[in-house]
Amino acid sequence: MPTIDELAAFCKRKGFVYPTAEIYGGLSGFFDFGPLGAELKSNIKKEWWKFHVHQRDDIVGMDGSIITNPKVWDASGHTAHFEDLMLTCSKCGQKVRADQFLEQALKMQAEGLTAEEVNGLVKKHKLTCPSCKSAFREVQPFNLMFSTMVGPKEDSSAKAYLRPETAQLMFADFKLVADNARMKLPFGIAQMGKAFRNEISPRDFLFRSREFEQMELEFFINPKDPKCPFLDEVKEHILLVCSEEMQKKGDAPKKMSVADALRKGVIKAEWHAYWLAVEHQWFISLGANPERFRIRQHVQKERSHYASETWDLEYEFPFGWKELLGMANRADFDMQQHMKSSKKDLSLFDEETKQKVIPHVVAEPSLGVERAFLVFLFDAYTDDKERGNIVLKLSPKLAPIKVGVFSLVNKLNEEAKKVYDLIRNDIFCTFDTGGSIGRRYARADEQGIPYCVTIDFDTLKDKAVTVRDRDTTKQVRIKISELKSYLLAKC
Ligand code: GLY
Repeated sequence: MPTIDELAAFCKRKGFVYPTAEIYGGLSGFFDFGPLGAELKSNIKKEWWKFHVHQRDDIVGMDGSIITNPKVWDASGHTAHFEDLMLTCSKCGQKVRADQFLEQALKMQAEGLTAEEVNGLVKKHKLTCPSCKSAFREVQPFNLMFSTMVGPKEDSSAKAYLRPETAQLMFADFKLVADNARMKLPFGIAQMGKAFRNEISPRDFLFRSREFEQMELEFFINPKDPKCPFLDEVKEHILLVCSEEMQKKGDAPKKMSVADALRKGVIKAEWHAYWLAVEHQWFISLGANPERFRIRQHVQKERSHYASETWDLEYEFPFGWKELLGMANRADFDMQQHMKSSKKDLSLFDEETKQKVIPHVVAEPSLGVERAFLVFLFDAYTDDKERGNIVLKLSPKLAPIKVGVFSLVNKLNEEAKKVYDLIRNDIFCTFDTGGSIGRRYARADEQGIPYCVTIDFDTLKDKAVTVRDRDTTKQVRIKISELKSYLLAKC
């Protein structure tokens, strides 16, 4: 596996991701996606939406605004609680995120420590500013929401925020969506889009950035009926489990089936276990290595203010096990908060019991698009010493470009262009005439193009082309008349 810096360099070289506006020196925590990165990101989102919305009867989508009424953030608790603790150097003014700094300096798990505990540890271990070695000031909370002004007014009544999560409008608009789509509990609302967090110390390339995209799902149930009817579909699925208890005892994570995790009470809610398995399966279905994932329960201190139980789906990055997807059991926290704050009834009427129900969100799979982007790139990145180039073994579903069309020699460019024109409307492909055929294959490997079609002198006689498989380099001869359906089936 490459290091995160090697991957970032590769992403820039191949046109996946650049630091934003690099000609001006960039801006920490912000990135631009180049031609291949924009395609890969869009393919990840398309696959997520297809899997979570189109292929299910119990989930519908919505697309809320990025800036909304700030009362939403008061009700959700973000205005008051969405903060990290920050240490500031008394001399040079450098600011560091306290938990990350302590984790690095003391090799401990520091998420969720109180201000008092942080101050105590800094004092006890005589920790100083990483830049100038001067003493820190008392730790301060720092709210992570970006604020802005709406309209020409400049007083506090114009203050609004860029959303720090996509979740909230799925609660605030819950009643409209449920009524419009005529949904009955249990059901989910899904949403994808940009979110913004003013991270104190963005780091690890795309992993912790200030602008990112989320693919989120709120799954609502009737609290009186907590059974998951789909459990049989996942009960044999194996997860590497790291529970709160294992972390407290210092035990190693254990592999167990979903059925066992529920039977032993390691995961409490059926729906929670179901969604953890389904999200793991989503990654695997798109070519990720199942062995690099685990689920880790949040210890009490790190749980968000709205969560009664939280599990993260984590991936083993070269910089350690890190959260890809947080899955909180938010119960009725958000619904109650928005009902109280808006004074509107957001309950549903249950025809069976003839009673009003305030739904519970039993699981909230919330995945960062850029984190999924990193997972698929890390798992695909193969340094093939024999070929002498990187081979990006992305699933054809995710590959930015599906097919490369080449001519063996320039003399055949016209024939090759005809083949390119034949398939380009149905399959995203590239027509490459630059350099030797070997160089073009190598370039295609590094772009993750799964199939290369080459037009050679025999094509003029047999009306067929060779199709090269990126991962095996094996070539097969396919009639031009069958090429489109062959490639569509493959991709
Ligand atoms: N909605 C949960 C999160 O953004 O992490």
